[in-house]
Amino acid sequence: MNLKEMVGNKAAEFVQDGTVVGLGTGSTAYYMIEAVGKRINEEGLSITGVTTSNRTADHAKKVGIPLKNINDVEKIDITIDGADEISDDYQGTKGGGGAHLFEKMVATHSDEVIWIVDDSKLVHKLGAFPLPIEVVTFGCQQVFRLFEEKNMKPSFRKDDKGDMYLTDSGNYIIDLHLEEINKPHELATWLNALTGVVEHGLFLDCVTKVIVGTEAGPEVKNV
Ligand code: A5P
Repeated sequence: MNLKEMVGNKAAEFVQDGTVVGLGTGSTAYYMIEAVGKRINEEGLSITGVTTSNRTADHAKKVGIPLKNINDVEKIDITIDGADEISDDYQGTKGGGGAHLFEKMVATHSDEVIWIVDDSKLVHKLGAFPLPIEVVTFGCQQVFRLFEEKNMKPSFRKDDKGDMYLTDSGNYIIDLHLEEINKPHELATWLNALTGVVEHGLFLDCVTKVIVGTEAGPEVKNV
């Protein structure tokens, strides 16, 4: 079993009957969705899923998870998602798959947030993984130039065909190749205030449990 599958299966054990579950996006969340679908089919588990991308919605429907729009649930009990990097102090970056806007919206309104990762995602400091910034298309070159002036090494994300990558909301993504993020809270505050930025991939003070896949088995860390 690969490590992503291991943590996906482990995380599905934390899903309780009768709850609303935020379903993350990405290659690790994929296995969690498979495992939750299996529990619904084999154990008769009854849950409502809230999705974080069109991809996840398609997958969840395929495995038989009943879904509701985020606007139509009172609250989300638990969200399970992957991450691109997790630092020693459990801050994270996400958005490698371009879904961080919906992922942050769902996580922000969840009582519990579980990240599932293989051990390669654990880092001392964030920043080696490019930080995704979702921007509105209007004026995006101006925002890009500003990042260049600040030596933040921006690049526009492209799709498989070499066209501009479009998010589920029809926005672009600029990836910042920062290498090291020394003050994530300061950076997040600055990005939050920047006109044209819809959402960035810094997920700070948000996770409540991390499940790490290791060769020795899944490790569950409460944050
Ligand atoms: C999607 O936009 C991302 O935030 C993913 O959750 C994150 O990139 C982890 O993805 P993988 O599990 O595919 O590495």
